[in-house]
Amino acid sequence: MPKFRKKIVAGNWKMNKSTADAQALAEEIKRELAQHSETDVVLCPPFTALKTVGDVIADTSIKLGAQNMHAEPEGAYTGEISANMLRDLYCWYVILGHSERRALFGETDEAVNRKVKAALAATLVPIVCVGETLLERDAGQTRDVVRKQVERSLAGLGSELAKVVIAYEPVWAIGTGRVATPDQAQEVHAFIREVLEAISDRATAQCARIQYGGSMKPANAHDLLTQPDIDGGLVGGASLEARLFVEIVRRAL
Ligand code: PGA
Repeated sequence: MPKFRKKIVAGNWKMNKSTADAQALAEEIKRELAQHSETDVVLCPPFTALKTVGDVIADTSIKLGAQNMHAEPEGAYTGEISANMLRDLYCWYVILGHSERRALFGETDEAVNRKVKAALAATLVPIVCVGETLLERDAGQTRDVVRKQVERSLAGLGSELAKVVIAYEPVWAIGTGRVATPDQAQEVHAFIREVLEAISDRATAQCARIQYGGSMKPANAHDLLTQPDIDGGLVGGASLEARLFVEIVRRAL
């Protein structure tokens, strides 16, 4: 594993946790991981708990992330949140193009690309999600689908591409308990790195970190996280329980 790619484990809490529950979860995680600097650790609570969680982790190396944002900096976009508003709450990261947003809220690669550019312009690090459905995998289309998502979502970034975190999340593995095997995941991660090299250069492709997401648990984390092109995890269900999330982070060395 090249040392220059520091592992990054992010908890995607999705639409879960009241502010009180979010505070309790963040405090529990902080007790275990406040001094853990070997891995980048990111907590992505819902918008309503960003301030609360940010306050809990303010004096640690744990970073705050959001789960979505709008591409415009401000204006008449009822119900939306901009990159600068997230910066204002001390967010470092923002998850963009999660498969739930693509499937349930009609987000296209082009929309994700606009958000990625806006996030980078505001010095937020985007965590850009890509991944195929079961139908696409069974039809042998995994590479085509993932290549298009990567090329279109990350078009026109130039040298900024090296800062982006990509999350490979096979849709069939999200929230299903059906995890990709380490070989299956590694194969797609290596392929994503090839696509990155094709749209930029070798150095950029080697710098960009690629997380795996989809039913990651303490029991499968080690085997996934020791693959050469898997640089961390985007953890949904298991990030809602401090004990499970902390165990996963400890396996990401
Ligand atoms: P999961 O979710 O870990 O619950 O499968 C991952 C994600 O959606 O980011």
